[in-house]
Amino acid sequence: MSGDESHVPTPEHPGRPRDEVHALPSYRPGRDAAQAERDHGITGAVKLASNEMPEGPIGAVVDAVTAAVTGVNRYADHRAGTVREALATRLGLGAESVTVGNGSSGVLQQIFQTYVARGDRVLFPWRSFEVYPIYTRLAGGEAVTVPLDARLHVDVDGLIAALTPDTRLVVVATPNNPTGTATSTADLARLAEAAGMGTIVVVDEAYREFDDRGDDAVRDLVGTYPNVVVTRTLSKAQGLAGLRIGYGIGHPAVIGDIDKVALPFAVNALAQAAALAALDHPEEIAERVARVVEERIRVESALRESGWDLADHRGNFIWLPTGADTGRVALDLERAGVVVRSFGDEGIRVTIGTRAENDRFLTALAGVSPTG
Ligand SMILES: Cc1ncc(COP(=O)(O)O)c(C=O)c1O
Repeated sequence: MSGDESHVPTPEHPGRPRDEVHALPSYRPGRDAAQAERDHGITGAVKLASNEMPEGPIGAVVDAVTAAVTGVNRYADHRAGTVREALATRLGLGAESVTVGNGSSGVLQQIFQTYVARGDRVLFPWRSFEVYPIYTRLAGGEAVTVPLDARLHVDVDGLIAALTPDTRLVVVATPNNPTGTATSTADLARLAEAAGMGTIVVVDEAYREFDDRGDDAVRDLVGTYPNVVVTRTLSKAQGLAGLRIGYGIGHPAVIGDIDKVALPFAVNALAQAAALAALDHPEEIAERVARVVEERIRVESALRESGWDLADHRGNFIWLPTGADTGRVALDLERAGVVVRSFGDEGIRVTIGTRAENDRFLTALAGVSPTG
């Protein structure tokens, strides 16, 4: 980055942020239902924009958080040791193979901080989760992207061809956000093999519980490929998005390095209590996940019947390939009370909600024409 792009301090904007920070646009949070209602003079809008679970937390989580709140005058366990143990037991691994963080975004941030310095290459498919380019830029790294294929799947051979000795990290989300397509662990194994021990391959499985193909990156890759780190979250299937807890699984030496950059007490006491309760009730969580998957299949069928050519979605969301019409379709949906997430002139991501919310979306979409 040239010196010209540095911030010049003024009384209106004092300080000299790092060039990487100065060059980043300010964070703009996604729109919520209340904003849409105000802007369009409507009521009863629904938000299908952030891949959240539509149902509130399970009873055991409510009870655990309520009980834990009386202890918040104390710091939480810095390492969240009990949660690590609980996760490790369920994964059949030792606790030294598991780390936890402030959401899986927090774990990912720790991974980038551990491995990426100025000039290092970070390789990922595009489109994918938006924090990958942001974390790369913040570290001063160079993002190398490989386009998704025509069916919106990750091009694993393209990633392998783009590996270089100065690639520090490769990041693949499966299922991929925002397209919902999944990558097989067999393909990810080829990637890990090609990357070698100098390159960490991150497999971001934030949506794994909604994907019933049977692939499991922890079972299939960690252990065989010491350079693979799998990240997961309790924000999605377990419905703890607002509490912030995610985790990473990998070789103990890698986990040890990632742990060094952890923010003190990154996982708060309520999140730790909630995580333990959610992990203790897998059947209830699985029922909720099954309801979402059933709804996704219903929405997909309805859309295909009305002519949409859809990708093979495996998450709790679908991707509408609206192309140049994206902005207009997203705005029409919002005016009809359905807040979705649009991506440039590529497409719209719609989170699967309750049956009523999904019907609302289908009705709203039937009222807009994708071809203008
Ligand atoms: C692919 C992917 N990874 C990670 C995350 C982060 O989730 P959290 O930080 O809530 O764990 C998300 C959230 O939307 C995501 O889509």
